[in-house]
Amino acid sequence: MERLNRCIIYFIISIAVLCQTTHAQNKPTNQRVDSILNLMTLEEKIGQLNQYNDDQIATGPVTIDNDKTNQVKQGQVGSLLNCMGAERTRSWQKIAMQSRLKIPLLFGQDVIHGYKTTFPIPLAESCSWDLTAMELSARISATEASAGGIHWTFAPMVDISRDPRWGRVMEGAGEDTYLGSKIAYARVMGFQGDHSGAINQLMACTKHYAAYGAAIGGRDYNSVDMSERQLLETYLPPFKATVDAKVATFMTSFNDLNGVPSTANKYLLRDILKGKWGFEGFVVSDWGAIGEMINHGNVKNEYEAAGSAMNAGCDMDMESRDYKNNLAQLVKDKKVTVALIDDAVRRILKKKFELGLFDDPYKFCNAEREQKEMDNPAHVAAARDVARKSIVLLKNQQHLLPLSKNTKTIAFIGPLVKAVMQNKGFWDVKVPGVDSAYVVSQWEGLKNKVGNSSTLLYAKGCDIEGDNREGFAEAVNVAKQADVVILSIGERRDMSGEAKSRSNIMIPGVQEDLLKALLATGKPVVVLINAGRPLVFNYTADNAPAILYTWWLGSEAGNAIADVLFGDYNPSAKLTMTFPLSAGQIPIYYNHFNTGRPALNDSDHLYKSAYLDLSIYPKYEFGYGLSYTTFGYSQLHLSKKTIKQDEQLEVTATVTNTGNYDGEEIVQLYLRDLVGSIVRPVLELKDFKKVVLKAGESTTVTFKIDKEKLSFFNQQLQWVAEPGEFDIMIGASSRDIRLKDRFELVE
Ligand code: NOJ
Repeated sequence: MERLNRCIIYFIISIAVLCQTTHAQNKPTNQRVDSILNLMTLEEKIGQLNQYNDDQIATGPVTIDNDKTNQVKQGQVGSLLNCMGAERTRSWQKIAMQSRLKIPLLFGQDVIHGYKTTFPIPLAESCSWDLTAMELSARISATEASAGGIHWTFAPMVDISRDPRWGRVMEGAGEDTYLGSKIAYARVMGFQGDHSGAINQLMACTKHYAAYGAAIGGRDYNSVDMSERQLLETYLPPFKATVDAKVATFMTSFNDLNGVPSTANKYLLRDILKGKWGFEGFVVSDWGAIGEMINHGNVKNEYEAAGSAMNAGCDMDMESRDYKNNLAQLVKDKKVTVALIDDAVRRILKKKFELGLFDDPYKFCNAEREQKEMDNPAHVAAARDVARKSIVLLKNQQHLLPLSKNTKTIAFIGPLVKAVMQNKGFWDVKVPGVDSAYVVSQWEGLKNKVGNSSTLLYAKGCDIEGDNREGFAEAVNVAKQADVVILSIGERRDMSGEAKSRSNIMIPGVQEDLLKALLATGKPVVVLINAGRPLVFNYTADNAPAILYTWWLGSEAGNAIADVLFGDYNPSAKLTMTFPLSAGQIPIYYNHFNTGRPALNDSDHLYKSAYLDLSIYPKYEFGYGLSYTTFGYSQLHLSKKTIKQDEQLEVTATVTNTGNYDGEEIVQLYLRDLVGSIVRPVLELKDFKKVVLKAGESTTVTFKIDKEKLSFFNQQLQWVAEPGEFDIMIGASSRDIRLKDRFELVE
């Protein structure tokens, strides 16, 4: 009898749930969310805040857990990461559909620079300064990944980084706040599209909030200690830009910020992000970061860690299991309110509704679409386009480049010539069931370009690391037979990336010695440097006649490099991170303050801010990059010399292609506030334009300067533009200023 009663009660509840969920589907999203929320037990709510790694791949320290299937069935899991492919995501979703409330799972993945089609690493792409191209690569990544069942990418990374020892510089947009904010915005727009809930859109995730790029000593996961003013002015604007782009989610960073781990940093999460900026999406912790607060020494145990993170505003727990194991007790103990948990659950459910998963949990699991999107030739073309736009020409003596397609014999030498997967860089996606090894190697790219017209010779020469010089003789022999030598050297792709900090950022092994041996043949040598960060390579920089910094360019690396080598694309990229002369200069960045004792040059040492044993200048500065053509700058004109706070200043300048090739120039506008109540940087990028000019052609570039561009955080942390004089500088890099004038801001 008791059993029968239980069955009847269960039946009635099931009907109620069914009616509520079906009914919920016809209401506005917030009401639909509340309809579901009203049905949920505390355990089910906590389940939504819990994210597990699927066991396909791991991107962090794995916790063995054989009970995941059961927990998904019980509605104790809200999201999985590293679960890919239409088939696999469908099978997990089917399990979630066996749970009482049938709340669909979210599938998250690090789609950082492509899914099947791999685009250049984000730092490389940022050197294109081409917002449209970057938006497109994110758009294509979203199209492919969403066809693979993914709902959510853990990108873009928007951490400002001034320390190339930090391996994760490869994942961001470099050192500049203005450019970084524009790129952050473009990438979110690319991933998320027009927010219409279309099937080819991904939710983006801005990371790592906040100031992760300022890890002390460039050591990954390390502490960050900085003034609030610097945080607000330099590090947070790219995060804010993504909120303006309506980013769906945020991820906390591993570091502590001034002693408070970001994962439980109320000031960052509740006051700024969800408060001041009005962010409506949800926040996920980084992998295991809630539990790691115990190691930080900020909490005693998992119980305190969970309470601290939840109260601070971290909505979802990636992999630590501390929410799942402790939140219910924390509620019982009145350490966490149900209202806070409800708020977190609401934020997550809302995204599931917006994605359309309540209407069709299998919306993104379509094997046919998956197949079609993985083989889209337009994606390949876009990858090649942005790859060539990312290559930085660092040196080109006596116009060695571009090479003639009629060159009789070319020797292609080096450990990276025939490498395939290396070209993908860190954070490629190993897509199940598709040939993720699809990459045009540098050797293949050269063959595709001149394989029929030139004789191509190859020698490896040496390894990336180690001191084995046995291959030098063969390489020298091959070089001697050629008219020109191309040498491809650099890092391994896994030497930059997460947990890939290096104290020595010189080109590893004996690769520069190999260059020395090749130069001794007297043959012209073009050097390709492949890396995920700015490296130090003074021998190469001072002795090789031509250098292309190719970073890691992705699937179309070989073709893109060949396009640039032979002039089918005239390089236009400019560095977005300063390249130091030596690691001893780090951190080094262009927009520094002047000191009270600035050195005027490298011999100016006496009581000056300088090094006794090292130049104060970088090897290559922010904004630097050459072209096969040259550009002249003239006719700087300011619409007025004095502006009021509510007025705009129009600045025009003429840029002329003065060389022999058609080309693109990134025209950079810098400002210097001459006197500030807070010391102002020696110059700050405030705008840029990328212009395309035929040989001999001129164009006028126009910039608008308003109060916003003149403002900074004063001592009271108010965003103000102080009256006074400003230098305005237009140039081809942060050191190559071509035009200069001055104007005044008055009350
Ligand atoms: C840790 C990394 O810091 C983060 O960027 C990444 O998204 C997660 N692992 C998931 O792989």
